Parts: sequence; structure tokens; C-alpha cells
Amino acid sequence: MNHDNARPDRLYEDPDIASFYDVENEWSADRACCRSLAAGCASVLDLGCGTGDLAAEVALEPDCTVFGVDPAAAMLDIARRRQGGDRVTFVQGDGRTVRLGRRFELIVMTGHAFQVFLTPEDRIAALRTIAAHLEPGGRFIFDSRNPAVAEWREWTPEQSSRRIEHPRFGAVEAWNDVSHDPATDIVTYGTHYRLLGDGRVLSSHSRIAFAPRSELEQALKEVGLEVEAWYGDWERRPCTPTSPDFIPLGRLRRSS
Ligand SMILES: C[S@@+](CC[C@H](N)C(=O)[O-])C[C@H]1O[C@@H](n2cnc3c(N)ncnc32)[C@H](O)[C@@H]1O
Repeated sequence: MNHDNARPDRLYEDPDIASFYDVENEWSADRACCRSLAAGCASVLDLGCGTGDLAAEVALEPDCTVFGVDPAAAMLDIARRRQGGDRVTFVQGDGRTVRLGRRFELIVMTGHAFQVFLTPEDRIAALRTIAAHLEPGGRFIFDSRNPAVAEWREWTPEQSSRRIEHPRFGAVEAWNDVSHDPATDIVTYGTHYRLLGDGRVLSSHSRIAFAPRSELEQALKEVGLEVEAWYGDWERRPCTPTSPDFIPLGRLRRSS
């Protein structure tokens, strides 16, 4: 099976589908946690920044330079146009390979963007990007869903069926479908929007990986990152075998 995520994902690359992102995803605990970690920081990098709501909010911090990186032009278009987007330097780039030529006091990767990296090699490459951009005393945080919880089991058409009011398309029926490869813990899910105005259906097919915590621990160590706390959710509850998320908060290992 091809595990390369090089194919563009219409969920983020198609401007019409990308325009649903902010409608479906409200400000939540991950934003609040990152906003508090950013307090007092002079520089923050949001990797896989998507539509840039977090980056724009963090840029309200006085004297804070904020960069947002994402490969999807349609997401970045929304980010640049949003209120406060002009305070952020948005860069189109791949989290595995981008090199900005500067370092940051805080690097965040939210919304489970880390799960777009499908192979151990891709995950190491993304973590190397974090290590390459951290100030010596700087901190990073990201989230990846716990495979043991198998959240994808809820992403069936029956359980995910919902009705949305979209500011441009009006009433929309939305649903997901999903398949899980137990050999790799890669999940393929569809996102579908039926525009009730004209009957069109906009669809995307995405793949994300559910990496085990042991692999993340090993990969972080390999790239010279040290974890000071593993949280199990963005309320910063401790990470347990049944926590929804793995959320490492850490920094560069002192010797590296
Ligand atoms: C679920 S969204 C999360 C966006 C944002 N971080 C948030 O919290 O709302 C995943 C994001 O990862 C981005 N992405 C996909 N492939 C990527 C890559 N190779 N490097 C960095 N980001 C990537 C997508 O374009 C998308 O904006």
C-alpha cells in the first residue's frame, strides 16, 4: 500500500471544502492551552496552521513574532484574510521539510495535524523540523490521537450525520465515512457536504495515522527533543492508556 501523503487532500486544498473548516471547528481547549503557553513568548511557530485562527490570536501577544506554516494554499488564503491574519507571517510549506532560517520560543501543532504524517519516517522528519526551529529554551507541544481509543469508530455516516449552516452555501447536510487498516493504524475517512441549495455534493478523502505513544517517545528522543509532560487532553489531564490524546510538551534536550 502507498503510504505517501503527497497527494493533495481536497479537505484542505479545495477552496469550497476548506471554507467549511472554521464552520465545523470552533475555538476550543487546544487554542486556550497554546494561547497560555504563548504568553510572554517573543516568537511562536504554528506548524500545520490551517486557517490560522490560533496563529492570529497568538499574534495579539505584545511584541510576539508569529509564523504559520501549511502546505494547503486554500487554508492559507483563509488564514491571510482573517481578522488579525496580517499580523502573522504565513508560509506555504511542508512540515517535514520546511526550514525558515530562524528559531522560535514556542512551536505548536494543533488539530491533530501531526497525524497527517503517515509513516515513522515522516513523523521523524516533522519532529526534526520542530527541533531545527526551537530556541535553546523554547518549548513545543502537539497532539496525536490515542489509537487505543479508536475514535474513528464514531466517524460512520450514521454517527457523523449533521446539518450545517454555511455562510455562503446555506443549509448543508454533512457526513463522514471511514475505514481503518489494522496493520498500520492508518485511517482513511471521507468528508461529504451536500449543498441543499443546488444538490451538489463536495467530497474529500483523507488519510491520517494513529501512532503509538512508544513510537512517539522513541522518535522524540531520536531527534533530540525532551518531554517534560505527557498530557492526555488539552485540559492538561495526565496521559493514561485510555486518554483521548497523546500531547507531549517539551523542549530541546540540553546536550543537543
Ligand atoms: C486538521 S487541520 C489542523 C489545522 C490547525 N492546526 C488547527 O488546529 O485547526 C490539519 C492541517 O495540516 C495541514 N497539513 C497537511 N499536510 C501537512 C504537512 N505535510 N505539513 C504541515 N501541515 C500539513 C493541512 O493542510 C491542514 O491545514
